Amino acid sequence: MAHLIQQACFLTAPKDIGTVVPCFTRALDLRGPVRSARLHISALGMYQAAIDGARVGEFVFAPGWTEYGSRLQFQTYDVTDMVAPGSVLTVLVGEGWWGGRMGWNDQKARRASALIAALEIEYLDGSRENILTDERWRVLTTPILFSSIYDGETVDMNAPCEDLGPARILPHDTSILLPQEGEEIREMGTLSPIAEITTPKGERVLDFGQNLTGYVRLRARGRQGETVELSFAEVLDKDGNFYTENMRSAKNKILLTLSGDGEMEYAPAFSFQGFRYVRLDACPPAMTSADFAAVVVHSNIERTGDFTCGVELVNKLYENILWGQRGNFLDVPTDCPQRDERLGWTGDAQVFARTASYNFRVDKFFTKWLHDLNASQDEQGRIPHVIPNILGPDSVASAAWADVCTIVPWQMYLTYGQLHFLTDQFDAAKKWVDYVHGAGSEEFLWLDGTHFGDWLGLDAPEGSYKGSTDEGLIAGAFFALSTENLVKMGRALGKNMTEYEALYDNVRAAWQKRYAAEPGRVFGDTQTGYVLALAFDLVDQKAPYAARLAQKIHENGDKLQTGFVGTPYLLRALSENGYTDLAYTLLLQTEFPSWLYPVTRGATTMWEHWDGLKPDGSMWSADMNSFNHYAYGAVGEWMFNVCAGIQPDPENPGFRRIRFAPQPDPRMGHVSASIRTAQGLVASSWAYEGDKVRYTFTVPAGCTAVAQIGGAEYELSAGVHRF
Ligand code: BGC
Repeated sequence: MAHLIQQACFLTAPKDIGTVVPCFTRALDLRGPVRSARLHISALGMYQAAIDGARVGEFVFAPGWTEYGSRLQFQTYDVTDMVAPGSVLTVLVGEGWWGGRMGWNDQKARRASALIAALEIEYLDGSRENILTDERWRVLTTPILFSSIYDGETVDMNAPCEDLGPARILPHDTSILLPQEGEEIREMGTLSPIAEITTPKGERVLDFGQNLTGYVRLRARGRQGETVELSFAEVLDKDGNFYTENMRSAKNKILLTLSGDGEMEYAPAFSFQGFRYVRLDACPPAMTSADFAAVVVHSNIERTGDFTCGVELVNKLYENILWGQRGNFLDVPTDCPQRDERLGWTGDAQVFARTASYNFRVDKFFTKWLHDLNASQDEQGRIPHVIPNILGPDSVASAAWADVCTIVPWQMYLTYGQLHFLTDQFDAAKKWVDYVHGAGSEEFLWLDGTHFGDWLGLDAPEGSYKGSTDEGLIAGAFFALSTENLVKMGRALGKNMTEYEALYDNVRAAWQKRYAAEPGRVFGDTQTGYVLALAFDLVDQKAPYAARLAQKIHENGDKLQTGFVGTPYLLRALSENGYTDLAYTLLLQTEFPSWLYPVTRGATTMWEHWDGLKPDGSMWSADMNSFNHYAYGAVGEWMFNVCAGIQPDPENPGFRRIRFAPQPDPRMGHVSASIRTAQGLVASSWAYEGDKVRYTFTVPAGCTAVAQIGGAEYELSAGVHRF
């Protein structure tokens, strides 16, 4: 049955007001006291609703970002205590992800924003009334002259609020409306500046001490016409000056002109920035750094994971992984939060999702996004590079990126044990595997197609972003992985998967024949090639391949060369094949390239490049150099699964049964990790006492576990166990 809000109309401004943010308003004219009042509301764009000036709800950037062609979330707020006879409802509507520019080439069409709402009232006398958006609503201009995700916000408190008259109805399909599925985006914390810096160029800069995603909230004081002008940066350059080149075309500018009547609090309505440093390009003399705070904004995901060990740099790495997630879980899993992208890149999401699911509770977050994945898959079964797909119908089907459709649902099922991840996603996964099966010129390989390869691999040829691992090799390996995941999904759903089991065997055999014909050698001889062969179980006799991988790493000075494809599986490929020692050497490596190198350079988030900031202080490049890219934070998975040894059991997902298989190393001293699961706290710790290792495992009530220590297995029941 249609929801009440679907009977309402989308409203837009009655005339072109350029970039000014409109305010839609309706005097509620209530007949008397109410028993209940519920506001159902959404927008093509982003809305901020208020009743008699008080903000409705805590959702920032509502209604969130979905595949708008077929899916638009609406929210429902209980506003019983906010309404009274004489109340006025006002709603600001900004362009947001819907209307504004998105993509580095402005790939998406600009569109007018629109509001839709239904206020459902039950009076104390039992009578009911619904107030829907219609032409009785009026539209006013606001002091927000411009508000854009990438470019920031311009507000002039002296701008007149012009009454534009009745709203115009915008014909638009209301069947796309659906109740909120994901987590709300919220203000999740506030940081004060840790320092005020004057740079060598004489710029006045506030340092918030942490690279984050959100905005600045400020208390503005000053005379009429005075301005507060802010610019944002993640890092300072070699000389200590403010550095914004890596934002590319995203302007990230806040410009507030004061009216002069008293103090005002300000934060942007429909724009966010990725930053650690804020430059005060203009600031009234009456204001000090104490008037500025950084507000951390992300999806309201609950923290579940924890990891500490005896190496401070690794502890800081884990903190940075968490911040990478906070900064990029803003309704959709994004590549980065600062430059002219901030898109739901599928490759990045599949790389990081496993770690993400341990750090925070992301089941609702991914439920929604995977539904957007289903909506964005094309008829041929191709999955876009970014979801929601703002890049267009041709930006689809890259190996490893599109395989998100089998990797993420399977991991969400493992971590949370919720079967809906498989029921909802099975068809999309199957369509994708079928597409790949039919895509190549050779049946069981994928030799064609356009791929991102081992993106940002350090063995990339000069001038290329793609590591040198063969693209067909990667595509074939992910074909095998996705087929295997599909089989696992189908089996868990009780389906007969014999056809895909056979397909998997054929793909694996074809891959072996083409890419691992010579014993112990993978075609191209790249680190990533060996990693895939081992981690995806594509070769039978693993030892010689593992030995070659280890040798290659040694020859490279005990350093990695892998990119987006190889890095997430690198340590696993080593530790599963007798090279745990080397895996720790890589984890603990502090020279470039390594996970800890950025930490030694003061990183507070994960960097897109191993050498975003080079040892000599120069930048990797201005073009593709985010300092808040969660992808390489995928090493968190290994820290939980292997180092602490907490592993979910596919037969009893959601940690109803746990496998503890820690692989300690004296260089770590001690390790303590935990995951708050639906069943309770799962924890594993170990510590060296001399050359002895002491282990402690915590099994939640109602769960069982098996602990694997030094070749022996111990069956564990609920409780705390020490060895
Ligand atoms: C993004 C990546 C993404 C890639 C695809 C970049 O611009 O920031 O993280 O996966 O494009 O190649």
